[in-house]
Parts: sequence; C-alpha cells; structure tokens
Amino acid sequence: MSTVLTFGTFDVFHVGHLRILERAAELGDRLVVGVSSDALNVSKKGRAPVFCQDERLRLVAALRCVDEVFLEESLELKRHYLQHHGAKVLAMGDDWKGRFDEFNDICRVVYFERTPAISTTAIIEKIRF
Ligand code: CTP
Repeated sequence: MSTVLTFGTFDVFHVGHLRILERAAELGDRLVVGVSSDALNVSKKGRAPVFCQDERLRLVAALRCVDEVFLEESLELKRHYLQHHGAKVLAMGDDWKGRFDEFNDICRVVYFERTPAISTTAIIEKIRF
C-alpha cells in the first residue's frame, strides 16, 4: 500500500481543492490529508478560516478520494507527519514549488499545477463585495 500525503487549509471548499485531492489520490493506493488547524491558519495567512477545523476535517474526510485526515498543527512537523504516515509521496500545489524539496530524501515530492482562477481568498472577496 503506497500512501500519498498532502496538506492544506481547504477552507470554503472549492473545485481547485477537489482537483488537487483527486490528482494526489491517483499517485498511490491511499490519500492522507493534513488539514491545517485554525491556529496555524491564523499564523500562516493572517486570518481565521471561515469554517473551523472540525468542519474542514469532516468535509475533506467525506470525499471519496480521501482515506484519512489529521490535523496539521505546525508547519515544522512536516517531516514527522510524512514519517508517521509512512508516506511514499508528498503532493502539493505549485504555489509551494521547490519549498518541500528537502523531503525528497524520504519520499517523492510532486507539485501539481494549481487550478486557474479560483481560490478561497477570491471567493471570500467576491462574496464580500
Ligand atoms: N489549490 C489548487 N488550485 C487552486 C487553489 C488551491 O490546486 N485554485 C491547492 C493548493 O495548491 C494546495 C491545496 O489546494 O495544495 C489547498 O490550498 P488552500 O491554501 O487551502 O486553498 P486556497 O484556495 O489556495 O486558499 P487561499 O486563497 O486562502 O490561499
């Protein structure tokens, strides 16, 4: 069983999120998703997510292409999470291109092209104005 791991906030779930999870799942037998905690999101993006971590975990866990979810509580623990889940592949969007190459010593690191013209931030802005 080869495990693929990916990380993200997945707030205000949209088709860009779905597409990266579907593509990541195709790289192995199981897809495990680290959903970033509310606190991590505040420190990473400077705002609290619209949907809280328990709701985001439930939404991602309910997808057919996702086998397991866990809460990502620190950006510094990526290596630990990869090893703990026995990941063979780390899949990320290309907004992170090159940023995770250091983990090539323990798994294959793959960057997927982001789905154009959609993001959580853009959706929030569109609804707000
Ligand atoms: N992603 C993607 N295509 C998009 C948006 C996101 O492939 N259009 C991917 C990201 O590259 C990441 C994952 O989905 O691997 C989770 O991204 P996340 O940061 O939660 O979503 P964004 O929509 O980018 O959120 P924000 O606007 O808050 O940065």
